Amino acid sequence: MATQAKPDLTSGAPDHGARHVAIIMDGNGRWAKKRFLPRIAGHRAGVEAVRRVARAAQDMGLECLTLYAFSSENWKRPASEVADLMGLLRHFIQSDIDEFHANGVRLRVVGHYQALDPSLVALIEGAMERTAGNRGPIIAIALNYGAQDELVRMARMLACRVQAGEIKAEEIGLAEVEGALYTADLPPLDLMIRTSGEQRLSNFMLWQAAYAELYFTDTLWPDFDACALAAALDAFRLRDRRFGGL
Ligand code: FPP
Repeated sequence: MATQAKPDLTSGAPDHGARHVAIIMDGNGRWAKKRFLPRIAGHRAGVEAVRRVARAAQDMGLECLTLYAFSSENWKRPASEVADLMGLLRHFIQSDIDEFHANGVRLRVVGHYQALDPSLVALIEGAMERTAGNRGPIIAIALNYGAQDELVRMARMLACRVQAGEIKAEEIGLAEVEGALYTADLPPLDLMIRTSGEQRLSNFMLWQAAYAELYFTDTLWPDFDACALAAALDAFRLRDRRFGGL
């Protein structure tokens, strides 16, 4: 079996050049199935991977790591699985917020999280407020997030501004659009990773991915770790990004 080189997690400034990495964390269910375990066991192991990778992202000098935890389409799953995922998210925020805060991490949630259970909304907003003044990396969790929904909201928001006479329609440009997205104050997306062998974006950060590099790995999310992130960043470092130029 091929062995992966151990990443150097201790060197100062990152040489991979990536500021913002987003991950579609896929494969929890298959990970559990391979072990004859219930799907919730895969999601639990997925939370452990979130912890590992969030720490690795800090060690590797990323400014922002965005994790797709619950899409606006995930409501189609059985109610019991939705409840399990919400329970894991709640527990994760409650148990990990102190460590994030101590490490200077800013916790952000992107997506229409306001539609979640009011007590979870309060927990999320408390965690975001508590860490908002930190100066370290941003860990952004995408919750009830859908990129098409984000673009519809952006269009409505800008239409309202035009209607209110705040701006003229012809003044709407890239900056106005970006300012009306959930990710308005996040750095530009450099790298999008999807685990578990699927090769699609599944309604995740469609606008932001315009010039992001895409990286697909067969590794199932619960098996993803610092080495896997380092391998993705190594691949990113070798990409020739031209942004439409030569
Ligand atoms: C996809 O795997 C994964 C999800 C829909 C949920 C991701 C959630 C977590 C990793 C846990 C909670 C997250 C945080 C931030 C605490 P799948 O269930 O679609 O897997 P499958 O395609 O193999 O069935």
